Amino acid sequence: MNLLSPFSFALPTRIEYGSGAVEKLADELALINARRVMLITDVRLASSGVLSRFTTHLASKRIAYDIFARVEANPKDYNVEEGAKKAAFDKPDCLVAIGGGSPIDCAKAINVVAANGGQVRDFEGYGKIPGEVLPLIAIPTTAGSGSEVTFSAVVTDSREHFKFSIKDPKIAPRVALVDPEMTLSMPAALTAATGMDALTHAIEAFSAKAAEPLSDAVALYAVELISTHLRAAVSDGQNIEARSGMLLGSLLAAIAFSHSDVAAVHCIAEALGGQYDLPHGVCNAVTLPAVMEYNLDYCVDRYARIALAMGLGDGSVESRARQAVAEVKKLAADIHLPEFRQLGVKEGDFEKLASDSAANGSNRGNPRPMERGDYLKVLRGLNEAA
Ligand SMILES: [Fe+2]
Repeated sequence: MNLLSPFSFALPTRIEYGSGAVEKLADELALINARRVMLITDVRLASSGVLSRFTTHLASKRIAYDIFARVEANPKDYNVEEGAKKAAFDKPDCLVAIGGGSPIDCAKAINVVAANGGQVRDFEGYGKIPGEVLPLIAIPTTAGSGSEVTFSAVVTDSREHFKFSIKDPKIAPRVALVDPEMTLSMPAALTAATGMDALTHAIEAFSAKAAEPLSDAVALYAVELISTHLRAAVSDGQNIEARSGMLLGSLLAAIAFSHSDVAAVHCIAEALGGQYDLPHGVCNAVTLPAVMEYNLDYCVDRYARIALAMGLGDGSVESRARQAVAEVKKLAADIHLPEFRQLGVKEGDFEKLASDSAANGSNRGNPRPMERGDYLKVLRGLNEAA
């Protein structure tokens, strides 16, 4: 990296972190004079008691609320359009997203369509939102996407089976209430998958072409926190120290990638998620070691520093870089994530998956140039791996 290279770093979201941080919701709503809010979440959280904690809190403070709890995993365009219609009808003055990356991303997109009209894909890309949107408060219940501090939303085009991104500082949450206790009830498999998403954010942000000094700083600490705490968070969900380390790690990783970028792992993961509706973190986990091997010669110094952040520091720079790749693979196996071949991806879909990966806006961020044919090779290699 050239330390003379210019960069810009803004974090539009105020972060309120700590056990019990969610109890500040009513106070935060009072700060923006919100009298009617729209709670946006998914079915699992709506039926688990998590949502009722917030409705009770709001009722006790005499704040009116409406609920949209129909967000699906890998949120679909029709989820956004349904939520936007409801928002246009209910006329809230603030949105509150409760959940993992899916509800928070969906809330960002609902906010855009409710305020501007049109179809959600009209806003694909960077800076395509003409009007202002409502304030959004994000309350993460997973340690993965870090969507509570990013200004991007990923939505699935349900007709084309393609994931696209909306990126604009306007859609960043106004406030993130980041409370480790909210992640204690996350099931082990979800902890594992979302945790690997966070690790992928950190590694890709640190090695992407657009990396800059501030994203580097937070990415490396994110790698350290996640590699220290992920196994413990999966094996004992009630371990509050591990949960806290993961929630901070995922938050830092998201700050890193939203100022740098993600890269080829996410390009493949989003293609897989769009086509097969698979969990995003699993798609990253199965792809990450193979893409790191593909990239290794182009960012050997960077992967060696990732190894140091993971506590692996022996040998030459190349040896350490290879240890980072091996550790990522071992970590995914230790937390019982599947391998690529177990996902049921059809060889007949490889051509489309490769095309979708190459068309992803983050493809240009990958440290080693990748074209459609390169993605095809990586996919075939994953399919042939023992
Ligand atoms: Fe991700």
